Amino acid sequence: MDRIRIRGGAPLNGTIPISGAKNAALPLMTASLLTDETLELTNVPRLADVSSLLRILSNFGVDHMIAGRRPGQTSETGQTVRLTARTIIDTCAPYELVSTMRASFWVIAPLLARFGQARVSLPGGCAIGTRPVDLLIMAMERLGATIEIDGGYVVAKAPRGLQGGEIVFPKVTVGGTHVALMAAVLANGTTVIENAAREPEVADLANCLVKMGARIEGGGTCRIVVEGVSRLHGASHEVLPDRIETGTYAIAVAMTGGDVTLTNTRPDLLQFALDTLGQVGVDISVTNEGIRVRRNGAGLEPVDVTTDPFPGFPTDLQAQFMALMTRAKGTSRITETIFENRFMHVQELARLGASIRLDGDSAFVDGVKRLRGAPVMATDLRASVSLVIAGLAAEGETMINRVYHLDRGFEALEAKLGRCGAEIERIKS
Ligand code: UD1
Repeated sequence: MDRIRIRGGAPLNGTIPISGAKNAALPLMTASLLTDETLELTNVPRLADVSSLLRILSNFGVDHMIAGRRPGQTSETGQTVRLTARTIIDTCAPYELVSTMRASFWVIAPLLARFGQARVSLPGGCAIGTRPVDLLIMAMERLGATIEIDGGYVVAKAPRGLQGGEIVFPKVTVGGTHVALMAAVLANGTTVIENAAREPEVADLANCLVKMGARIEGGGTCRIVVEGVSRLHGASHEVLPDRIETGTYAIAVAMTGGDVTLTNTRPDLLQFALDTLGQVGVDISVTNEGIRVRRNGAGLEPVDVTTDPFPGFPTDLQAQFMALMTRAKGTSRITETIFENRFMHVQELARLGASIRLDGDSAFVDGVKRLRGAPVMATDLRASVSLVIAGLAAEGETMINRVYHLDRGFEALEAKLGRCGAEIERIKS
């Protein structure tokens, strides 16, 4: 298994291009199952999760074509992927394929909507809590599907098609909202989704579905209304920038000091997190080129942060922000409200010298004068990158093991950081 070696201490200076969002690309690719025409997606990141989903879609019979590079495109320009679900030969997604990535479970909704049946293994993904699918099942049942659990598989049926209905989510769920949207667009009649997730990736999916002929109002708000249509057609859509990658590199610069401009991204996608970095003492400005992040030698102020659904502080930046607060001038409290088990990075950060106390859903982080490099283990996607951030500021060498988690969600991480002055290298096994 590959490892990443970091020699800490170098400030970051330069430009980092931000990739297309993994969490938008996955549901958008899944939406290709809703039509027999071609869905073209541009700005698709080169990530292990994208490859995994392509494998699952291919298994159903979806043809995919990844376009070659065009003049002017760099290796950092996202890929163009064309997906055509003309003939579906199988509506079953087996355990071997679904178990590595939770989002692959979402294929159940378009398969059910278009073919009236689907059999999908219960999902896997990052081990950050129990992460049930009860609300995704509820959404499909509200649209008239019958659902059974059989040998670890969810079997969904709607032989006469789905019927519009009212879906009220008792808690905000991104995956639940994606599933509800993809099921409702081909249902007969009107669907109202209440307490929908407002994450930008949901709005991105809704925008793409509208280009494909869906009738949706309120995508990106907490009340989405969908008028079902009988069929969708092909479209071309650009994946929105990755707000979590943007925030991760902003935090990395805050950690090391330096001056970096993040390009191909938008501040409105992560305003709360950028404002929080401002409170900590990081200089954030928006220029014609992108988001400029600067920190000089001044210390970092401690701050209390609570994760929340969008537009609040994202849970997917919690681990990275905790790494940053290990160097603040005092105690910060970080409260996690979305996932109950999302503190696995704490013990690894402690190996680098961090002082963190857990109390229920809160972590109390006492800033320390210095971190020291050590061997650490990546446990999940966002936790892994928090160790990279800590390693960039630690004295000496940090060796991060099990980096396949990073490859699921961060495109060209070593190249992007290395070009800005970080001493970081991948050791192939
Ligand atoms: C998505 C993101 C993930 C992010 C999360 C929250 C993708 C591929 N993943 O995950 O990176 O951390 O949103 O912003 O986009 N829940 C239930 N029952 C359900 C579904 C969810 O109780 O049926 C709970 C979850 O356990 C969690 C909360 O709802 O406590 C939010 O989860 P959800 O928004 O659904 O996360 P994902 O869509 O899996």
